[in-house]
Formats: sequence, structure tokens, C-alpha cells
Amino acid sequence: MSRVCELLSIRYPIIQGGMGNISSPILASAVSEAGGLGTLGTGTLDPDKVEGLILDMKERTSKPFALNIPITVTGHLKEIGELAITHEIPVVSLSAGNPAPYIPYLKEKGIIVICVTASVKHAVKAEKAGADLVVGEGFEAAGINSHLEITTMTLIPQLATNVSIPVIAAGGIGDGRGLAAALALGADGVQLGTRLIATKESPYHKHYMERILNANDTDTVIVGRRAGKVRRILKTSYADRLQEAEANEMNPEEFERLTGEDRHSVGAIEGRLDEGFLNGGQISGLLTTTPTVVELFEEMIVDAFRILETQAATCKKFT
Ligand SMILES: Cc1cc2nc3c(=O)[nH]c(=O)nc-3n(C[C@H](O)[C@H](O)[C@H](O)COP(=O)(O)O)c2cc1C
Repeated sequence: MSRVCELLSIRYPIIQGGMGNISSPILASAVSEAGGLGTLGTGTLDPDKVEGLILDMKERTSKPFALNIPITVTGHLKEIGELAITHEIPVVSLSAGNPAPYIPYLKEKGIIVICVTASVKHAVKAEKAGADLVVGEGFEAAGINSHLEITTMTLIPQLATNVSIPVIAAGGIGDGRGLAAALALGADGVQLGTRLIATKESPYHKHYMERILNANDTDTVIVGRRAGKVRRILKTSYADRLQEAEANEMNPEEFERLTGEDRHSVGAIEGRLDEGFLNGGQISGLLTTTPTVVELFEEMIVDAFRILETQAATCKKFT
């Protein structure tokens, strides 16, 4: 059993990434039931709405799950932290901001803390502040991304070298090959975002899923460099509009309005692709099927095991 599985009381070292305002207990409970760690994102949602999601999640599964709090995005940091404590949620993942001030309080309440980082410096700081696990999220990933633009391939081995707590690789992982690669780079497990959108349990609009399934390797774009909030999204008519707005130097406040979480819900849930965007990672180009979450995880584990065994046998021939 990997140390991540032991720490989180899960069967497979696979974590669902937070999914902001479109987080769904349907998908998150499917992940937990399948043996991974489901996550409810909180995005910019009101505490009442988040509490509703937590109660719904608890009706669907008694397995462990996490609450993701994007520090600089939520307008309700304190209230949502308190909800995690009141509802005895076993794991909180902190992203999009400096987690150090909040880790000791959550730990004191018995919560396992995951910190999502995109550089060695931030991972080392999170470990020093008491984090139990770090997620290393590379630039391939969907959604809000780091301006540092470090890729998963280069970030993960550097994190594994520089921290002693478990490292979870995020960004660009879509199958057993990705899992095997992450483990080979020194990760203890993986976090998935894009891959989970294209599953049977995914409750999002069919246009979102179709866009992922039809994407190729170049069908995502980065927006927000100019406004200072970098985001990877799928190419759509709305993405073209955002790129045009940036090229025309739209003022940052107006641009932020066009890339707010509500605009993501319009694209992802309502399927209005002219009026809202779709978070999507570079791995979209690999995805052509919609397995159930159980099928996905089982195939990933079996394939990763087979790949690592085959590679070990190949390497043995060289020694
Ligand atoms: C729809 C969607 C919404 C996301 N929202 C959040 C979020 O609110 N908080 C966060 O930390 N990460 C968020 N992410 C990033 C994921 O948690 C995850 O780290 C990332 O998707 C992994 O890369 P991948 O997309 O290549 O699998 C989001 C990703 C997606 C696909």
C-alpha cells in the first residue's frame, strides 16, 4: 500500500482535483466509491451552497473525501474552513495562494492538509508549515495555472528531491502510462482533472465532454497572462474572444469578469460555448472514451503496473 493510500485511507493513489464552482457530489462520490479521493471544490461558491454540496456528498458516500479551498479565489475562506471542521471532512486541499497561515489551524482540528503547488519553493514552504502532502501541478493542467509555467515532467522529480512528504503529480495525466510516469518521476500518486470530465458519471454538459473527446494535442490555450491570472482552457469560440480581448489589451478588471467562475459554469454546465469557457488540460488530446470512474481507475492501475514491470525487465537487460 502506498503511503498516500495509508494516509488518506483510500485504495488507489488517485485524487480528484478541485473543480471550482462546477464541483459535483455525483462525480466526487463516484471517485471516492471507486477507491480514489473525491474532492468537492468550493470556487467562489457561498458557504450555504458549499454546505449543501457537503451534505449531498455525505448521503452518497461514507468514504473519505476532500474539500478544495482556492485561497485567493474564494471570498469565504474562514467560513468554508469552518464548514470543513463542523462537518468533520477528513481532508482539505488548499490551492491558489499561500497556505502557510491556515495549515496549523486545520491540523489542530485533525484535518489532513494537501497543498497544491507549482514550484519547489512553494512546496518546501508548505512542508515547513505542516502540510501532509503536496500536489505538484504542472503547466499542462486545466484551469487556473501558475505563471511559472513549470511542466509536470520537470516539476515532480524536483519536488520529490526537495520534500519528504508524499508528492502527488497533477497536470497531463490521463491513463496508466501517465500514472506510471508520475511514479517513475518520484510521485506517490496522481491528481486528475480533465480525465474525470470525460467519464460516465461526469454530470457536465455534453458539449463539454464532446469538446474534450474531439480535441487534439493543440486544442487548449492559455489566457490571462496579461491580467495575471493564467488559465488553461479548451479552444472554443469564447476562447477566441478572450484571446482577442487580451490582444486588444482589454483592461484587467473587465477581462477578469469574462474569465470568472460563473462564465465557466455557463460553458461547462449550460453548454453555451459562445458565452462561457471550458477548463481543459493538454491531455484532452488523448481522451476518446468515457469509461466509468471504476473502469478508469482499474485500467490505470493495471496498465501502470504492467508498464513498470515491463520497463524494469527491459532495464535489467542493460545491467
Ligand atoms: C473543470 C476544472 C475546474 C478546476 N478548478 C480547480 C479549482 O477550483 N481548484 C484547484 O485547485 N484546481 C482546479 N482545477 C485543476 C484540477 O484540480 C487539477 O489539478 C488539474 O485539472 C490537473 O490537471 P489535468 O487537467 O491535466 O488532469 C480545475 C480543473 C478542472 C478540469
